[in-house]
Amino acid sequence: MREFAERGADLELAGIQKRFPGFTAIEHLDLTIPAGSFFALLGPSGCGKTTTLRLVAGLEEPTQGRILIGGKDVTETKSHERPVNTVFQSYALFPHMTIIENVAFGLRRRRIGDALAKAHEALRLVELDHLAQRKPQQLSGGQQQRVALARAIVNRPALLLLDEPLGALDLKLRRQMQLELKSIQEEVGLTFLHVTHDQEEAMTMADTVAVMNKGAIEQMGAPAQLYELPRTTFVANFLGQSNLFTGDVVETTSSAITVGAAGTRVIVPISRAQRHRGIVTVGVRPEKVTLHRDEPETDPGRNVVGPGRIIDVSFSGVSTQYIVDVAGLGSVLVFAQNMGIGPIANVGDDAWISWDIEHGFGLEDEATAPERFPADDSTSSIAAQHRDALVSELEDR
Ligand SMILES: Nc1ncnc2c1ncn2[C@@H]1O[C@H](COP(=O)(O)OP(=O)(O)OP(=O)(O)O)[C@@H](O)[C@H]1O
Ligand SMILES: [Mg+2]
Repeated sequence: MREFAERGADLELAGIQKRFPGFTAIEHLDLTIPAGSFFALLGPSGCGKTTTLRLVAGLEEPTQGRILIGGKDVTETKSHERPVNTVFQSYALFPHMTIIENVAFGLRRRRIGDALAKAHEALRLVELDHLAQRKPQQLSGGQQQRVALARAIVNRPALLLLDEPLGALDLKLRRQMQLELKSIQEEVGLTFLHVTHDQEEAMTMADTVAVMNKGAIEQMGAPAQLYELPRTTFVANFLGQSNLFTGDVVETTSSAITVGAAGTRVIVPISRAQRHRGIVTVGVRPEKVTLHRDEPETDPGRNVVGPGRIIDVSFSGVSTQYIVDVAGLGSVLVFAQNMGIGPIANVGDDAWISWDIEHGFGLEDEATAPERFPADDSTSSIAAQHRDALVSELEDR
C-alpha cells in the first residue's frame, strides 16, 4: 500500500503512445513535470487530456512508452499502488455519509491512524470544517467540489491529478476556486497536474502550461512566455486571440524580418520569428495594438497600418473591442482600455493601427490560409457544454 508523500514527486512520461482499437489518441508524448509544480494540460475537446491522466493514474495502459513517478518506473504498477489521486469533474461524494466521513473514508479504509484529525485538517484547508457534519446534498456545488478536493488531498498523494475539476462551477465560483486551489497547492507542496479547456484557468493557476493538440504537445512553458511568444498558429489562437498576417519575407536584416502582406509591411524582430524566409505568418495580440483616428507619424519602432475602416465597435466596460477592416489584410482586432468615457471611434470611421515592433511574433507553421478569428470553440463554450451535459445527467437521475 502506498505511503503518505512528504512532498510532490516528479512525473515523467517518456515516449508514450496510446492506441485504442481503431483510434490513436496519443501519438507520441514526452513530458517532465518537476516535483512541487502546478502543471496545466490545456487543449480542445478530444485532444487526449483525460487519456493522459488515465495513463498516469494507471486506469489505462500505454501502447508504448514508460511512466515514472519520483524517478520510479510505475508503468507496470497497479493503479491503487501508485502515489496518485484523481479529482474528476463529477466529484461523486458518498451521499449517505457526512462530509467528514467522506473525507476520512480513504484513510480509514487504509487503516491510517488519526483519520478524523487528518480529515478535519484537510477540511480546514478548503475552509469547510464548519460544515463537517452535513451531508453532501446540504452543500452547494462549489462546496461539494471543495470536499472532493479535501478527500483527494487528505491522502497526500505525491501527485494529484485534476480533470476539469471546476467544470461544473459557475464563472465566479470557478475563479474563486482557482485561487484557492493554487494556494492549497502552494501550501501542501504536492505536484498538481491539472487538465482544462479553459485557457484563462490554465494561465492563472499553473507555473507551466502545455498546450495539447491532437494527441501531441504543441508548446510548453510559463504562461506569460506562451502567451507573449506563441510558436504555432494553433497556440496563437487557442491561448487568447491573435491578429495573424501571412506574406513573403521581403527583407531580412541581422535584427528583423519584414513581411509584405497586401502592400503593407510588417516588421518582426528576428529573435521573435521562428522562420526567416519564404512565406511566413506573423502576428500581434489585439491588446498590443493602438487605434488612431488620424494617421500616426512614422516611428522606426512601430508597425503602422492603415487607413482602414472600423466595422465593429463593442463596448464592454473596462475595454472596447474594435474591428478594423484593412484593405488586403482583412479584419484586425484591437482591444483598447477605456481610459476616457466611452469608445473613441465609431463604426464607419477611418482608422490607423500601430504596434511596437517588439510585440509582434512570427510563427513556425507552414503557410496556410490565415485563420484570424476562429470560432471560440476553445474555452468557455466547451466548459459550458460540459456543465450543461452534467446538469442534464443529474436531472435525469
Ligand atoms: N476507450 C476508448 N476507445 C476509443 N477511443 C477513445 C477511448 N477513450 C478515448 N478515446 C478517444 O481518444 C481521444 C481523446 O480522448 P480524451 O478523453 O483523452 O479527450 P480529452 O482531451 O480529455 O477531451 P475532453 O476535453 O472532451 O474531455 C478522443 O477522440 C476519444 O474519442
Ligand atoms: Mg477529458
